[in-house]
Amino acid sequence: MGTLYYGDNLDVLRSDAFQDASIDLVYLDPPFNSKRDYNLIFKTPKGRDSEAQIIAFEDSWHWGEQAEREYEELLHQANTAVTEMIRSFRGFLDQSDMMAYLVMMANRLLELRRVLKPTGSLYLHCDPTASHYLKVVMDTIFGPANFVNEIVWHRYSRPKGSQFLSRRFGASTDSILFYGRSENYKFHADSIRVPIDEKEMQSRNTHLDEKGPYYSGPLLRSASMGARPNLVYEYQGFTPGPEGWRMTRDKLTELDAQGDLFWTRSGIPRRKVRPKDNPGRQIDNLWADIEAVGSQAKERQGYPTQKPLALLERIIQASSDPGDLVLDPFCGCGTAVHAAEKLGRNWIGIDITHLAIGLIERRLRAAFPEIQFDVHGVPKDLAGARDLAARDKYEFQWWACSLVGAQPYQNKKKGPDAGIDGLIYFQDDQKSTGKKIVVSVKGGEHVGRTMIADLKNSVEREGAQIGLFVTLAEPTEPMELEALSGGFYESPMHGAFRKIQILTIAGLLAETQAPRYPDLSRGALSFRKAPVEQGQAEQKRLVEF
Ligand SMILES: C[S@@+](CC[C@H](N)C(=O)[O-])C[C@H]1O[C@@H](n2cnc3c(N)ncnc32)[C@H](O)[C@@H]1O
Repeated sequence: MGTLYYGDNLDVLRSDAFQDASIDLVYLDPPFNSKRDYNLIFKTPKGRDSEAQIIAFEDSWHWGEQAEREYEELLHQANTAVTEMIRSFRGFLDQSDMMAYLVMMANRLLELRRVLKPTGSLYLHCDPTASHYLKVVMDTIFGPANFVNEIVWHRYSRPKGSQFLSRRFGASTDSILFYGRSENYKFHADSIRVPIDEKEMQSRNTHLDEKGPYYSGPLLRSASMGARPNLVYEYQGFTPGPEGWRMTRDKLTELDAQGDLFWTRSGIPRRKVRPKDNPGRQIDNLWADIEAVGSQAKERQGYPTQKPLALLERIIQASSDPGDLVLDPFCGCGTAVHAAEKLGRNWIGIDITHLAIGLIERRLRAAFPEIQFDVHGVPKDLAGARDLAARDKYEFQWWACSLVGAQPYQNKKKGPDAGIDGLIYFQDDQKSTGKKIVVSVKGGEHVGRTMIADLKNSVEREGAQIGLFVTLAEPTEPMELEALSGGFYESPMHGAFRKIQILTIAGLLAETQAPRYPDLSRGALSFRKAPVEQGQAEQKRLVEF
């Protein structure tokens, strides 16, 4: 079972929903303080990147009221080592952007440690911008003894030109700091072994005998492995030094009986390691076999900083069991929750934007058509919708777009949006390259006829087939008439659809309204049909008109 939360993860983690010691595995991929904005790039029906880009999240941190407040909280929490650490940082980082970032991270890492089970683990994905500071923060919060590995993920086998500036080496790695909650953290090294391919198998197994290929492996412990008196015994006239044999006498006798022990010319015993004895290559801390999500990758969602599924699958398989609970508190487009669902784990994802939450909902439903999960923090009724509209106009627009299945449109920071807040592409005959619906969202209490006229103009200008007007306030009579005067879009094969459709947030939430358009791309021909009530109401209005 899965749960998505929209909101600041600090508030969500401090809510009653998160009990102490309730989570098995945390993976977090917070913004790295790279001081840039990350754009979400949508695809057109033809699979090309569309013009619709939008800032998904800003990766810049500044000292301000929130940082000061969170800093104060750190000074007054129970772990005095954390207080000392953060005070020391402030001593030399002062009120810098890096200090704001570390304060934000320290507070959240404290909560994440609290919710982890004693057998749990945490993987913190970061890069060299802040990894050195974050290691100090993690050592202070989790304890240096609970540091397990720094995984170096080599993102590109062929780095892009832009990664090579003239005065430095190319930058193509991220760091993943892996900590256990205690020494009893789970770890399943064998579940993530990588099969050895035929070529590697041949180059390894250079010897041949009547039983087949093999390679020569050691039977004696090396000096660096230290003395093991209980493994020092005589076999076939040979007694090793104080380090001893690598196995007990019984095992050695069995190996010999199977024909897998041999003696070198200088009289040293060795073992024959057969391909069948090889369970695959073990994974070390350099991960160079998983490629970043490329522009043509099938799993690509267009979300900036999207991590590959294979990376998350490896982490989840190594550090959890089926049925365990995996948490990603900065879940972006939901790679960790997708991997968790695929591997039969329960999961929780948190993100601070509706853009991310809406995208994850679509991603999961596409990958797992039968999936059931809860979404918290998004408006469930009109009061919630009003509250969101009052708090954040853009979050409201993104959420309203997700209600009608539209891609949010335009960069909120760049210029006027010309009345378009979302786009839907559809295909209603095999030959067409894709048709377009423009969506206009209004979260204000006052709406009027000119807004519908503006939408009609946008539909014309964009060469779109249909315009959706999504409104929090109830539409007025003149608005209805203006919309009716827009006429119909005649689908080549599927009849007529109102060109300008007015949908209220109340109607969408109650599912008594829905956009109406024909769409071939959803498998078999499936009309996005409005419920009966809406059809009847439209008929009535048409007759009146
Ligand atoms: C680097 S992205 C994560 C990408 C993700 N691993 C994936 O594969 O898609 C970081 C995410 O953290 C979210 N975020 C930033 N601050 C947050 C906060 N305080 N609470 C919850 N989410 C936050 C951003 O909206 C963004 O989606």
